[in-house]
Amino acid sequence: MSLALDVLNQKFALDNKLCFVDFNGMPAVRIRNEHAEALATLHGGQVLSYKPHGEQPVLWLSDESLFEFGKPIRGGIPICWPWFGPHPDNPAKPNHGFVRTLDWDMFSSGETSNGNTTVQMVLRSTDETMAVWPHHFKLSLLISVGASLRVELTTENTSCEDMRCTGALHTYFSVSDISAVSVHGLENGTYLDNLENLSSRTQDGLISFDREVDRVFIHTEETCLLEDAGWQRMISVAKEGSRSTVVWNPWIDKAARMKDFGDHEYQRMVCIETANAGPDAITIFPGNTWRLKMEVKKI
Ligand code: BG6
Repeated sequence: MSLALDVLNQKFALDNKLCFVDFNGMPAVRIRNEHAEALATLHGGQVLSYKPHGEQPVLWLSDESLFEFGKPIRGGIPICWPWFGPHPDNPAKPNHGFVRTLDWDMFSSGETSNGNTTVQMVLRSTDETMAVWPHHFKLSLLISVGASLRVELTTENTSCEDMRCTGALHTYFSVSDISAVSVHGLENGTYLDNLENLSSRTQDGLISFDREVDRVFIHTEETCLLEDAGWQRMISVAKEGSRSTVVWNPWIDKAARMKDFGDHEYQRMVCIETANAGPDAITIFPGNTWRLKMEVKKI
């Protein structure tokens, strides 16, 4: 590992701003600049933490997460792709696709004129991915850390056929207490309720949490606001290239069933996922790209 970290540091480290470290046995890029600090693993191309200086953490990471190659990490921003949720035809295939459990390659690091630090990672199709999903692809992930956190996932269809996919930037937000939280921006929106076999429902007012919530809002490009009365904080989650937003908190019983999720941790997190799911699946023509963008910031 230390040799691999040395190589990564030689190629991509930025003085006092970005370096590669071992995080629970995995190579990870650590960023600290004038605005914020952040951490992301090459495993899954996954942002694990983002914290503007002087603020509470924006992202949540489970204390019970596994850090095993080939297994998902519980928290941060897992990338669900090329399908969201269970595979549409084959439940034996992994939930939320396969790229959150593969190792991505570093492509570049840099700085922008406004003091953001950027990282780009890539993942290309291989024989291993073709066996699970028979399409050639290239994924590029841009992470930009500053006063806001920007994440952009670009899918390039490098095959000769149309590519149909769903997916999500499955963002886990850290909250003071789930009972103090509400989500704005989806009022009157149509959602498919994962707790009722994806029946279609209409959201009545803001979303607050006193039980399990697992809702796939469709046909929405709205910015969401996460209001946290306990931390007196409002976070905006803006997006482009996304027509679905998923809101999830597992609550008590599901938390107890998940072995990489502490029994009481549901109180400290909520997912607002920038997605294309269900009827919002996208089709990418050969040689074309699709860009899914999210920007998270305190307002
Ligand atoms: C959410 C789904 O996006 O992800 C939930 O809507 C699911 O139904 C959750 O439980 C976590 O999925 P996983 O595969 O990471 O345990």
